[in-house]
Amino acid sequence: MSASEPSGTKDRPMIRIFDTTLRDGEQSPGASLNATQKLEIAKQLELLNVDIIEAGFPITSPDDFEAVRQIAGVIKNSTVAGLARCTEKDIVRAAEAVKGAAKPRIHAFCATSAIHRQYKLKRAEKEIIKLSVEGVKLAKGFVDDVEFSPEDASRTELPFLAEVVEAVIEAGATTVNIPDTVGYSTPDHFEDIIKYLFANVKSIGKAVISVHCHNDLGLAVANSLAAVRAGARQVECTINGIGERAGNASLEEVVMAIRTRADVFGCQTRINTKRLYPLSRLVSALTGLHVQRNKAIVGENAFAHEAGIHQHGVLAHRSTYEIMNPEDVGITASTLVLGKHSGRHALRERLMQLGFDLDDSRLDQVFAQFKSLADRKKEVFDEDLEAIVRQILDEADDGRAWELVALQTTGGTGVVPTATVRLKNHQNDEILTDAATGDGPIDAAFTCILRMTAVDAVLKEYDLHALTGGRDAQGEVQLELVARGKSYRGRGRSTDVIEASALAFLNAVNRAVRGLGKALSPPAAAKD
Ligand code: KIV
Ligand code: ZN
Repeated sequence: MSASEPSGTKDRPMIRIFDTTLRDGEQSPGASLNATQKLEIAKQLELLNVDIIEAGFPITSPDDFEAVRQIAGVIKNSTVAGLARCTEKDIVRAAEAVKGAAKPRIHAFCATSAIHRQYKLKRAEKEIIKLSVEGVKLAKGFVDDVEFSPEDASRTELPFLAEVVEAVIEAGATTVNIPDTVGYSTPDHFEDIIKYLFANVKSIGKAVISVHCHNDLGLAVANSLAAVRAGARQVECTINGIGERAGNASLEEVVMAIRTRADVFGCQTRINTKRLYPLSRLVSALTGLHVQRNKAIVGENAFAHEAGIHQHGVLAHRSTYEIMNPEDVGITASTLVLGKHSGRHALRERLMQLGFDLDDSRLDQVFAQFKSLADRKKEVFDEDLEAIVRQILDEADDGRAWELVALQTTGGTGVVPTATVRLKNHQNDEILTDAATGDGPIDAAFTCILRMTAVDAVLKEYDLHALTGGRDAQGEVQLELVARGKSYRGRGRSTDVIEASALAFLNAVNRAVRGLGKALSPPAAAKD
C-alpha cells in the first residue's frame, strides 16, 4: 500500500477528533501556557480541522477562564468545550466561559471507580449517579451539546459503569467519554469495555461514545484504536501526546494510524494532516516540552534513514521503507535559512510553515527582533525564530512591570563576581541602577534584580540549553521561581547566556509581580 490517501474514503464512518492539548495537555508538569499562547494554538487547531477543542477547565483559575472565553470568541468551525466537575459552581463557570462560542460544549465529569468513590469522593454508588445526572441536567440548561465522563471508567465495575452511562444519556448527554484515567488498561481490555457498553446500555445509540486514554503503560494510542474498532466514534488526544504524567494519546499518531491503516480501522477523520508537523512544533515551542527524536510521525528521526541498505531502498522506491509520505504530515524539506538580508515576506512565509499565523503588529515585533538577531548571528534557524515568537508571547502576559535596559557583569578566577543592572520601572517610567555580588555573575544578576524589584522569591529550577549548533548559537534559559508559595516560570534567550538568564529571571519576576498584585514601590536602588 502506498503512502498517499487511501481510496474509497467517502463511506467510512467519521471519527471525531477531540483535542485536549489546552486542558489535559496543559496539565503536563512544567507546561503552563498563557492565554495569548493558548489562543495561538487554538487557531492552529481549528486549521488542523479538529472537531472539538477542549480549551480549559474554567473554574481552576481566572486565567484559565479567560483563555477559554477568548478562544470561544474567536473559533468558528470547531466546537469549543470547557471542563467542569459535577458541581453547580463548576458548571456555571464553564457555561459562562463557552457561551460566546459558535458551537459551545460543556464537558462534565464525575469519578465512578470504587477507589475514587471510597477515598476521593466518599460517596455511594447511588449518590454518584445522582451527582452525574444532576450535573448533566444543569449543563443542558446552558448548552445542547453536553459531554459526560465517568472518571477512572476503566477501573469501574462494568455493571455500575453501564448504569451510569445509561443514566447520563437519559439525562441528555450527547457524548459519553470513557476515560482510562490512570493509563491502566490494555487494548483487549479496553476494547471489551466498549463492547460491553454497546451490549448493555439500552440508550447507547443516542450518544456518541468517546475514549480518553492516558499513556502510563505506553498504550494510550493502542487503547484508543482498540476502542475505535469496538465502535467508539470520538477520540480524545493531544498534540505530541502531552498531558498529565506520561501524557495522553498522541493526536498525530491516532490520526495517521486511522489514515494509513484504513484497511484495519475502516474509518476516517477530518484532520488536515499537512498541518500536523507545524502544530507539533508550535506546541513544543510554546510549552517548552521537547519532542523526542524518535517520536512517531513528528520526531526528528521519524523519516530519517540511517542504514545504507535503507537509504538505498528508499532511493530506489520510497515505499520500501516508508509507510507514509513526510509531505502528508507537513514535513517539507526546507532549505530556507534566513539571514540579515531576508525581508518581512520571507519571514512571514517561514513562520507560517512553523505554525505561527501572526497578526501584523506581532509580525512587526518578530521582524524587529529577527533583524537584531541577524546582526549578531550569520544564519537564523527555525529554532531561533520559534524562540523569538515564544519570548514575545511569553512577555505578552507577564505585565511588563520591569524591563531590562542594561546589564554588565564581571566574573572569573580571583575576582568577586559582580553584576550591574539597569531596569526600567514601567509603572512610573523611572530608570534604576543597582549592583550586587554573588557566587557567579548570574547569581549576582539575580540578587540584584530581586533587590531592585523588591520581590521576595527563591529560584527553584534553572535550565540552559543551546537552541541550535554553532558557536554563535543562542542560549535559552527556562527557570522557575517560587514567591509566597506560588511558582512562576520564566524564559529568556540571547547569544549571551548571562543576558538570557537575566531576561528569563525578569520574565518570571514580572509574572510574580502580576500574580501577587504587588505594588511597584520604588526600591532603594539609585535612580539615574
Ligand atoms: O483522565 C481523565 O479521566 C480526564 C477526565 C476529566 C476526562 O482527564
Ligand atoms: Zn485525562
